[in-house]
Amino acid sequence: MLSKKTVDDLSNIKGKKVLVRCDFNVPLKDGVIQNYNRIDGAIPTIKKLLDQGAKVILCSHLGKPKGEPVPEMSLAPVAEALTERLGVNVKFIDDPKVTGVETQNTAKELKEGEVLLLQNTRYRVEETKYGKEESAEAYAKELAALCDNEIFVNDAFGTAHRAHCSNVGVTKYTKENVVGYLMEKEIKFLGEAVEKPVRPFVAILGGAKVSDKIAVINNLLEKVDTLIIGGGMAYTFLKAQGQEVGKSLLEADKMDYALDMIKKAEEKNVKLLLPVDHVVGKEFSNDTEKAVVDSIEAGWSGFDIGPKTIALYKEALNGAKTVVWNGPMGVFEFDNFAQGTLEVCRAVADLEDATTVVGGGDSVNAVKRLGFADKMTHISTGGGASLEFLEGKELPGVAAADNK
Ligand code: 3PG
Repeated sequence: MLSKKTVDDLSNIKGKKVLVRCDFNVPLKDGVIQNYNRIDGAIPTIKKLLDQGAKVILCSHLGKPKGEPVPEMSLAPVAEALTERLGVNVKFIDDPKVTGVETQNTAKELKEGEVLLLQNTRYRVEETKYGKEESAEAYAKELAALCDNEIFVNDAFGTAHRAHCSNVGVTKYTKENVVGYLMEKEIKFLGEAVEKPVRPFVAILGGAKVSDKIAVINNLLEKVDTLIIGGGMAYTFLKAQGQEVGKSLLEADKMDYALDMIKKAEEKNVKLLLPVDHVVGKEFSNDTEKAVVDSIEAGWSGFDIGPKTIALYKEALNGAKTVVWNGPMGVFEFDNFAQGTLEVCRAVADLEDATTVVGGGDSVNAVKRLGFADKMTHISTGGGASLEFLEGKELPGVAAADNK
């Protein structure tokens, strides 16, 4: 299904320098990596290149340093994690210019089977200015020069919705541009789920805001049999239908859109499910006074779906053959409001013969925290990228790779 060349289409890479764009934008706390998904996800591509005798140069952004060195956003901890996982000493240069002389020399002297990780590509202000400022062109060229303008592999699915120097600009200056295994896997699972779903196809959308998911809702209504809505965004739909939502999250300017989507679902014969009861709290805290209610009174906020809604959503998931899930059902970070997300998660995990795809930072965190990660078919490493994919958009990072 993927029409792009992949690392498997590369031949004769022995002794050649290969520049690989990864998404090592990992959460860090006091210099310690909190989640290794993206690092682990990049390993198969790197190993494949090393096994074939390539000289591997890795690059990535981390956070938003806005064009200057920020020590807390250094990729040094990632170099350590890679060294451990690859069993190869990953060279790392704390180069504020990213492509400076020391880096150039190290790249030049790399031997077969060696790995160099560049410093955070966003230490250079040009990184995010590709296509907007002339100086970005020079930076893209500098990056491509590190691999002798030969081979570029893009394995950064999480960044594929951005058109920056290190994932798109560079491809103008390298001869071969292919995608890595992680990118291939992400596109396969997300793409097949949305374009060739085995039915019934159920999408579950949650999270705080309707505005984050506008295009996703609109696109998925063209594809799914059932759309389940939970989390903070549900209250805008309920309010639009005339229900009271108390102090719950509300985007008043999105109520008309919510009504349009309810109408679209009817027209498309899609079952659109909204919460029928709620776990409400007085304040935004785990220990706040809470209650289970059918309708939300003034002074209370909906923080989770209630037991009747859980039963309704479980029934809707029963027998599903394809499930795409993006966004939690409630404030799952608080144990007292995690039940809805937990139960929906369990129902998805227990499905037999179903393809289950989880995308988006919060839902991935929820699935992991609740211990169901192994039970899902695919957990995306993309937050914004997986959302834009579900919106049906072409991702610039993917588009830039050579066609088969
Ligand atoms: C992500 O974490 O979504 C990607 O790494 C992209 O990061 P960005 O939103 O800072 O561009």
